[in-house]
Amino acid sequence: MKQNSWTLTDRQLCDCEMILDSSFYPLDRFMNENDYYSVLEDMRLFGGELFPIPITLDVDKEFSDQLSIGEKIILREKEGFKIAIMTIESIWKPNFDKEAELAYGTIDQSHPAVDYMFNIGKEVYIGGKIEKIAMPNHYDYRQYRLRPNEAKMKFKDNGWEKIVAFQTRNPLHRAHIEMTLKSMKELDAMLFLHPVVGMTKPGDVDHYTRVRCYQHVIEKYPKDSAILSLLPLAMRMGGPRETVLHAIIRKNYGCTHIIVGRDHAGPGNDSIGNSFYGPYDAQELLNEFKEEIGIEIVPFQFMVYTPSDNCYKPLESLDDNEDYHTISGTELRNILDKGDQIPEWFSYPEVAEELKKSRPPLNERGFTLFFTGLSGSGKSTIANGLLIKFLEEGSRPVTLLDGDIVRTHLSSELGFSKEHRSLNVQRIGFVASEITKNGGIAICAPIAPYEYDRKINRELISKVGSFIEIFVNTSLEKCEERDSKGLYKLAREGKIKGFTGISDPYEEPKSPDIVVNSDGTKSPEELVDYIYQSLINMGFMLN
Ligand code: PPS
Repeated sequence: MKQNSWTLTDRQLCDCEMILDSSFYPLDRFMNENDYYSVLEDMRLFGGELFPIPITLDVDKEFSDQLSIGEKIILREKEGFKIAIMTIESIWKPNFDKEAELAYGTIDQSHPAVDYMFNIGKEVYIGGKIEKIAMPNHYDYRQYRLRPNEAKMKFKDNGWEKIVAFQTRNPLHRAHIEMTLKSMKELDAMLFLHPVVGMTKPGDVDHYTRVRCYQHVIEKYPKDSAILSLLPLAMRMGGPRETVLHAIIRKNYGCTHIIVGRDHAGPGNDSIGNSFYGPYDAQELLNEFKEEIGIEIVPFQFMVYTPSDNCYKPLESLDDNEDYHTISGTELRNILDKGDQIPEWFSYPEVAEELKKSRPPLNERGFTLFFTGLSGSGKSTIANGLLIKFLEEGSRPVTLLDGDIVRTHLSSELGFSKEHRSLNVQRIGFVASEITKNGGIAICAPIAPYEYDRKINRELISKVGSFIEIFVNTSLEKCEERDSKGLYKLAREGKIKGFTGISDPYEEPKSPDIVVNSDGTKSPEELVDYIYQSLINMGFMLN
């Protein structure tokens, strides 16, 4: 009989690796139903050991229907390589509301872990012990990927006894370095710089850029006092409970201390703008369990720069009127977007250079202009006009993905059903995302009648550059009156079925970035100039 096998998603593969190399010890399996409920209710595995976060294997119902308890299934990575054998102990349908509330203290879907449950993950969980076939292969930065036993060995060989771990998902700036140096000095300890490179918060700086920053930063520590190692953890941004997990992992790596900052592993604000967790909730929860885990907490206060003495100090320690500087994540992104200089008091020049490379100024970065509007609304004419303007300006390569052109080349087999339109529009989005990622300008001009497809494209493209939606809001009457291709007439006569605006829906964009119409009050040249000027105002083009 054929053995069932499951292809692990990115998150599941990270979890699998962390189970197999004992980073998650005492967890040695994807949780079964007993472990799952016990972890949710009491932060303990069914056997009583402390474990704060559910580590579960979610699969679709179709797959779970083929499985039986006691069966051994193969877990593979995306290329098909076998990673582990899992013996199924439980198959169950979880209650996501309960999981969200108990594990993360919220059912707000703007929390990344809750979003995963409701919108990304599958509906059935399977649990059971896993046995290694082969560890997932990493081609990047192999020299920095220490397993727990390797790290312990290295500490022993180096004669290190006190080791303070620093967990991070961000590039390191001077405040972090001053803070780690301070803890090393105070504790007489060595540093284990242990950034997460598995999965972090959507929108974070990519791990290649971060590792290049860490490579520069590690040189700033006294010789032989710090080790850089990359952790393939898939973060849940689970705040206090995740902090307990971070401490368990670092204990497994042989660290004696862990630095826990303000709002550690916090996901930021919820959908109404309040912080999901209190700033010191994570430190408080870990304090309750640090003895059981066997690790010390080094609480980290918010460090600020004081120009009067060119120093970093905890904010709480400043005199009432003492002047200080900080730069928030949003402020840093704004500096980079404008192409301004990152101040040297904030970051080492080498780190600033890496950040500039990964986030060039807006006027050098790729973007997609995504037109949407009825057939005959003027999308193609305006898009062509802009193409010429960009070619004249010449700062970036530019590609026009017009509705008709795409349907000739990329989507020649597709018709105009809802499904086919979605496929078509999302294919355009995929090509545009590649162009944008590589620093080009993609101009897309399909009808794109559905909000859902436009949203998917916005999400995809915003990860690699900017997505600017332009609604060509020409009235149906005007488009029909023009009827340059004669299609409206055929649609009215019923000779073309499912024609947008006549016998098929067009969902108007809810919050387009730019709105124009070609009802006749403005010439196409004026509309092109208006859009181009808007792009200058937004910072995408130079004046
Ligand atoms: S979609 O919905 O975004 O996939 O449509 P798109 O690929 O942009 O459509 C390109 C052109 O196909 C012509 N056409 C139709 N449009 C709407 N509905 C139906 N049933 C249809 N059949 C053919 C139409 O002229 C579109 O051209 P534009 O460039 O928008 O005028």
